[in-house]
Amino acid sequence: MANTLTITDNRTGKHYEFPIDNDTIKAMDLRRIKVTDDDFGLMTYDPAYMNTASVKSKITFIDGDKGILRYRGYPIEQLAEHCTSFLEVAYLVFYGTLPTKPQLDYWRLNINANSTVHQSIKMLIEGFHPDAHPMGILVSMLAALATVYPEANNIYDPENRLRQVYRMMGQVPTIAAWTYRHSKGLPYVQPDPQLTYAGNFLNMMFNDGTSSYQVHPKLEHALAVLFTLHADHEQNCSANVMRSIGSSQSSPYAAMAGAAAALWGPLHGGANEEVLRMLDEIGSLANVPDFIADVKEGKGKLMGFGHRVYKNYDPRAKVIKKLAYDVFEVTGRNPKLDLALALEKIALEDEYFVKRKLYPNVDFYSGLIYQAMGFPAEFFTVLFAIGRTIGWLAQWNEHMADTEQKIARPRQIYLGELNRHWVPMEDRK
Ligand code: CMC
Repeated sequence: MANTLTITDNRTGKHYEFPIDNDTIKAMDLRRIKVTDDDFGLMTYDPAYMNTASVKSKITFIDGDKGILRYRGYPIEQLAEHCTSFLEVAYLVFYGTLPTKPQLDYWRLNINANSTVHQSIKMLIEGFHPDAHPMGILVSMLAALATVYPEANNIYDPENRLRQVYRMMGQVPTIAAWTYRHSKGLPYVQPDPQLTYAGNFLNMMFNDGTSSYQVHPKLEHALAVLFTLHADHEQNCSANVMRSIGSSQSSPYAAMAGAAAALWGPLHGGANEEVLRMLDEIGSLANVPDFIADVKEGKGKLMGFGHRVYKNYDPRAKVIKKLAYDVFEVTGRNPKLDLALALEKIALEDEYFVKRKLYPNVDFYSGLIYQAMGFPAEFFTVLFAIGRTIGWLAQWNEHMADTEQKIARPRQIYLGELNRHWVPMEDRK
């Protein structure tokens, strides 16, 4: 049997045969289908890219029906369980192989060496109102970094790209932590290269200046696992923005600012903050049935539920749910956990959610952990962004090296007015 697709155009009676490669036909092949020679040719219409592959990638594999997530072929559950540090996972996501000890040391050394932010960035952070949303500050600071490192625009030099990777991996946690310290009016804590990636971040966030302050190893481990679970998720909304902006040969910092802005939305990474607000709004177990009834009537969504790709339990949510109990052993149980468990139980049995295959996603339980660890709700998406930074960078790096890619530029179906004539103001009705 031929690995091709035959299409008959009933407008003309003509037959066309197209190759099928990786279970995909090339959209550009359809342009051969025309009624007349000067016809533009057939296009596909795919709002929200529901069925369009825009890249070939070797980074992350998801089987949404089976609830499988793998980075570079390694199941997420194994990475969460066995990786000794987040930087080990980050290396894997970026380079495609697990690092040897010297490779990991070199990777860590370069990231640590680039973790101090330029004075001008510090001053910019201080220009924000103390209660400015931290994602607004992060997006702005990422864009501002493009002005600090103009040489980053030389995006076709792999060595130069790598330098920006070290800088972003090093500086995103510093900017994030300093944003928090600014909001609290606390002095900034400098990055400490002796600490792990997660430990250093927690230290920059919460070090109270006393000599006895130490990051709790269980919380440090939990945060490293959370960063791991968020590290990449193939062509999601923000990764698509990262690639799309990158395709115009913009600075990677500008592309990252765009990606972070996309993440901020409540349907994407902003959902973790919304879950907490939703739980606050529900308030008590007695209100759960009414809340679910409202959702089913279309009055709002059950935040932290549903996914474009997963039509099964999000494998990240399974790991997070288990992790929550480890964290609560240290911090005390977050009382909202019972509310979340009750919501999940009802939703998993209710026909509305079952029929639509709506399961908890990564954002459903993560906020409960973050809150127990002392992060304010508006900071949750920043934590997602820190973990996702390496994913955006890996996607961008792959894109820049892909010779099949060009500037991203979708087509449209134009339904507006055709060729009107100018009407002077006095003649307009
Ligand atoms: N609560 C109630 N109903 C829902 C939900 C939800 N959370 N999610 C989807 N539905 C319904 C939706 O109304 C639709 O119903 P109908 O067929 O009657 O019109 C059906 O399920 C299909 O949903 P959809 O909106 O067509 O699905 P989508 O693939 O376009 O959207 C989603 C995916 C994640 C945006 C959506 O499920 C959602 O808004 N969830 C809540 C926000 C959220 O938790 N986002 C985090 C996603 S995971 C983190 C990340 O990677 O970004």
